[in-house]
Amino acid sequence: MQRTDYCAQITKQDIGRTATVMGWIQRSRDLGGLTFVDLRDSSGIMQVVFPGDDSSLAAVHTLGREDVVTVTGTVAARDTVNINPDMITGEVELRAEKLVILNRARTPPFLTEGTGEDTTEETRLRFRYVDLRRERMQRNLRLRHQVFKMIRDFFDKQGFIEIETPLLTKSTPEGARDFLVPSRVEPGKFYALPQSPQLFKQLLMIGGIDRYFQLAKCFRDEDLRSDRQPEFTQLDLEIAFPRGKEEIISLLEAMFGQLFRCILDIQLPQRFPCLSYHEAIARYGSDKPDLRFGMEIKDISHLVQGCGYRIFTDTLATGGKVLGINACGCGRYSRSQIDQLQKQSLAAGAGGLLWIKIGEEISSPLIKFITTESLQEIISVFDASSGDLILIVAGEGMEPVLGSLRSMIARQEKMESDSWHFLWVTDFPLFERTEAGELTSSHHPFTSPNQQDIVMLESRPLAVLANSYDLVLNGVELGSGSIRIHSRALQERIFALLGLDKEEMEERFGFFLRALEYGAPPHGGFALGLDRCIMMMAKESSIRDVIAFPKTTTGLCPLTNAPISVTKEQLDELKLQQQNEKHKE
Ligand code: AMO
Repeated sequence: MQRTDYCAQITKQDIGRTATVMGWIQRSRDLGGLTFVDLRDSSGIMQVVFPGDDSSLAAVHTLGREDVVTVTGTVAARDTVNINPDMITGEVELRAEKLVILNRARTPPFLTEGTGEDTTEETRLRFRYVDLRRERMQRNLRLRHQVFKMIRDFFDKQGFIEIETPLLTKSTPEGARDFLVPSRVEPGKFYALPQSPQLFKQLLMIGGIDRYFQLAKCFRDEDLRSDRQPEFTQLDLEIAFPRGKEEIISLLEAMFGQLFRCILDIQLPQRFPCLSYHEAIARYGSDKPDLRFGMEIKDISHLVQGCGYRIFTDTLATGGKVLGINACGCGRYSRSQIDQLQKQSLAAGAGGLLWIKIGEEISSPLIKFITTESLQEIISVFDASSGDLILIVAGEGMEPVLGSLRSMIARQEKMESDSWHFLWVTDFPLFERTEAGELTSSHHPFTSPNQQDIVMLESRPLAVLANSYDLVLNGVELGSGSIRIHSRALQERIFALLGLDKEEMEERFGFFLRALEYGAPPHGGFALGLDRCIMMMAKESSIRDVIAFPKTTTGLCPLTNAPISVTKEQLDELKLQQQNEKHKE
């Protein structure tokens, strides 16, 4: 029997004709005379009706969930009582005439109906091949394919070519730990899986490729969470002789415009708003602010200057600021809800949290310390009115504390509307300090400083801004890019500031520094986290739901049990010894 139709493609127009469908039993209901079977294939579900009086179809009574069958029958209109408006094929059914059981299934570990939220993720991943049958996962994987295809077509039209770069390579510093692969022929030496194709795409520019892109696999050994996997996919791109960062930014805006229009039927603005890093921190307390809601940070230092409240005066005397946000509509918060916010502020590094509750009366621990006029001035700066709650912190660098309160309240109050707010964040500092006090690159060491800041690289490195740009969507960092350094001398200065001596530079990056001397063109690029992008387009909250075979948050694959121990022979061949002798023989 050959398949003639996909289940969900049979419509009223097909009534009266014969069809053969193939798929899995979603469920079966034996109603005395008739047996109703929901048959599922990749397109969806169709109701198949088996008459009770046909002995050639008796096997229908033995069918269980997920058995694989092929059915031939006649397409018929459903009885009006049986019409199911929730099903694409809800008006028709297939009256079975022939049934062949292609394969039996063991009782599945969970039902394939629904979204899978009633099953643990561990079980869903262990039986991923069953989990993938659910409509949600089929839809997500199809969306992923559409996005990939549209991106490839888009960049092809823009004159880009896709080039693969090596997976067995040398470490590229992107801030995470490397996954290492031991070499058999060079015992004691290791390849690193790429954290990104950063250096190779730059070498492609030096190699005369004008516009490169790649849907690239990247590997990072870092703490995992809902938007991080140890292996993930980037849209990686680079262009030679760019018209500044503007050219790359507008290319990506056009690409997103097309993706959203064609796939989600959503019209994005032609240009996305842009904030400098400093502005983003000052106004939202985050370098990836969610612009779906307001609650902007306001500086009220000038209003509390002479108020005599010790915490404020001490803060202002030591160069700190008094900042706040208006949690609109949260004036109804109880004491214990405010305590919760206080705890969050302490955990985020604040010394305390002050509040002004605006109800029929104004209540606040500040009332004793500041005049009614000052209080009114503060309320008007926040544009606050009855029902609002103003939250205030004092100190130095307190913006992120308010940023975290802002996100927490928005989540709690369901302010995260169903809308799409893209944002560019530019002019990041080139360096930041590690906890140990050393300089480290905010992005990666190949990012160009802003031209006018190069003079102060050595004298005031932390004041140097990068020619870089991050793309943020609804508070999630989707990607980042920069104009690159293309001169060896400048690249060496950056490495030196990062603490590399000449020997280390040669050992780690000699090949790259040499390449910069052989006619490197000005170049710049970008990398977009595709899993995150598709997660958001699919309205999922974890990238694991848009990856066919993801790892758990502890980096394990419950399906294959990877990673596994290896045999002593394998280790011997690699001239490796395991400290823990418990490896499998
Ligand atoms: P960056 O390190 O910012 O830049 O990475 C770019 C984007 O990749 C995504 N991403 C991840 N997605 C899932 N799991 C992870 N573990 C993970 N890590 C990163 C994010 C991130 O914004 N070479 C530079 C880009 C460039 O300068 O061109 C780079 O890789 O969405």
